[in-house]
Amino acid sequence: MTAFLTGFSTDRSLAEDLDAADPLAGLRDRFACPEPGLIYLDGNSLGMLPRVTAQRIAEVVAQQWGDGLIRSWADWVRLPGQAGDLLGSVLLGAAPGQVVVSDSTTVNLYKLACAALRARPGRRVIVTDDDNFPTDRYVLDGVAAQCGAELRMIHTDLDAGISPAALAGAIGPDTALVSLSHVAYRSGALADMAGLTALVHDAGALVLWDLCHSAGAVPVELDASAADLAVGCTYKYLNAGPGAPAFLYVRQDLQDRLRQPIQGWFGQRGQFEMGPAYDPLPTVARFTTGTPNILGTVAVQEGARLLGEAGIGALRDKGILLTSYLIGLADSWLAPLGCALATPRDPLRRGSHVSLQHPEAWRISQALIRAGVIGDYRVPDRLRLGPAPIYTRFTDAWDALAILREIIENQAYADFPAVPADVT
Ligand SMILES: Cc1ncc(COP(=O)(O)O)c(C=O)c1O
Repeated sequence: MTAFLTGFSTDRSLAEDLDAADPLAGLRDRFACPEPGLIYLDGNSLGMLPRVTAQRIAEVVAQQWGDGLIRSWADWVRLPGQAGDLLGSVLLGAAPGQVVVSDSTTVNLYKLACAALRARPGRRVIVTDDDNFPTDRYVLDGVAAQCGAELRMIHTDLDAGISPAALAGAIGPDTALVSLSHVAYRSGALADMAGLTALVHDAGALVLWDLCHSAGAVPVELDASAADLAVGCTYKYLNAGPGAPAFLYVRQDLQDRLRQPIQGWFGQRGQFEMGPAYDPLPTVARFTTGTPNILGTVAVQEGARLLGEAGIGALRDKGILLTSYLIGLADSWLAPLGCALATPRDPLRRGSHVSLQHPEAWRISQALIRAGVIGDYRVPDRLRLGPAPIYTRFTDAWDALAILREIIENQAYADFPAVPADVT
């Protein structure tokens, strides 16, 4: 069931009514409160802290580390797979045994891109798009250089998202791997995972999806889309905290056919036999590397449980309402002030954040933070507002845009210096 916003009005009473009718409203109290009055619209960068996560980490520190010491090892080594299966079942549409929590998104991208290239001998092209997240483009460029392959970059409109026609024109019998973001980090444009995966498969290539901006925000159907590979982070909508480990997905039937380049002992069959040669497990565990980050993985579990309690369908419905509401207010209040929407208007073609374009976006973003509204800025001139359906209220959206309107109207950003060189 997908909810759409009907009967739009700029009156704050609509936000109050939407909050009153919000089936997820009670979940906001499950998060640690930032200072009173702060409006947090950066859940697409770093999610808020679930109270239960702080408690569980304290317990694990005291009991499993403080008391249990190395006796807790057996529990710890099972955790990355358990957390992966939980993510797979509540958020990623993946049957057990295909998702594991491990390393960072960047490292997982590297591992899976190398593995994919190796699995398609004779094909020497990796395809991605010029709007993909920087780490993805840099890692793929490095993998191509390391393997004597070519990185082919298709052009994607900054606001509209990937063009299926451009992708179709760039892939063929030379293509080993296509690597794309499911939700674009700047515009929030949502790609058609099943459709683009089919296109890639028709060319005989493998596809690797980056789910950083979609996991926990939109339903992801990895198995049903026949996706081959995926990676994603856990510190955004999953609320697992700064530096929490990422996840990776490798479709079941590919697992024992793919070899990753970091031949760590956690991927080894009979790990404690300490054998002379690397012989990887036949399971998704072969894509792990070294000792897992236990405290971070515990936080991933708690974040996933909380989102599972909400249900990804309900989160998506509220995400659509929140972004539609933000867009409605932006159209009414900000468009006349020179602020253009830089996110797809069709709710089914966007994730859970909204980008606005304004030539003074940087200074406006700084003035917003000073006024207690945390969003963020992305080059070249975009202001991102990332409501998280699990804790953002409609009144937060109204209050934030009312403040934003005032800032732009009164040029209350004029005292900030121009965008610094290291941000452009
Ligand atoms: C789409 C996307 N991919 C990859 C990354 C990088 O992830 P990490 O720094 O955790 O490796 C990010 C970080 O924000 C991202 O938004």
